[in-house]
Amino acid sequence: MAQEAATRRAVLPGLAVTVVAAAAGYGVAANSSAADAKSVTAAANGGATAPDTQGPLAQLADIPQNGGLVLRAEGIVLTRDGGDNVQGFSAVCTHQGCTVSSVTQGQIICPCHGSRFDASTGQPVAGPAKKQLPPVNVAVRDNAVFGV
Ligand code: FES
Repeated sequence: MAQEAATRRAVLPGLAVTVVAAAAGYGVAANSSAADAKSVTAAANGGATAPDTQGPLAQLADIPQNGGLVLRAEGIVLTRDGGDNVQGFSAVCTHQGCTVSSVTQGQIICPCHGSRFDASTGQPVAGPAKKQLPPVNVAVRDNAVFGV
């Protein structure tokens, strides 16, 4: 029981961030033309489609440059270059299915067995994973990231 409560406490801050981000994104989308794509960066051809959402997956400001953001609920990891280009990948490690935990120094990290993936391609660069993280097509517009 105590462990369940601890787990809930650990999850709630993430949910709050997601809800706030979604609400903020709705406001942005409602006050702008969603068709005005300022910059679009889709992952490699053949990428998966992000879950159909009414709002953005994240605000661009929430994704550090040369870093990333793991969206656990959506099963997506967003990575950002030194500018405003964002790429999406499945957050499910291709080794044994753990959710990746972070993006640092140009690599997406899986905490379970130490696999690391290139943040710009999703290709495995270290650890037991041998397959690429499948790309998820995303687009940046109005300073937010949307599934496409
Ligand atoms: S599940 Fe990711 S390294 Fe094993």
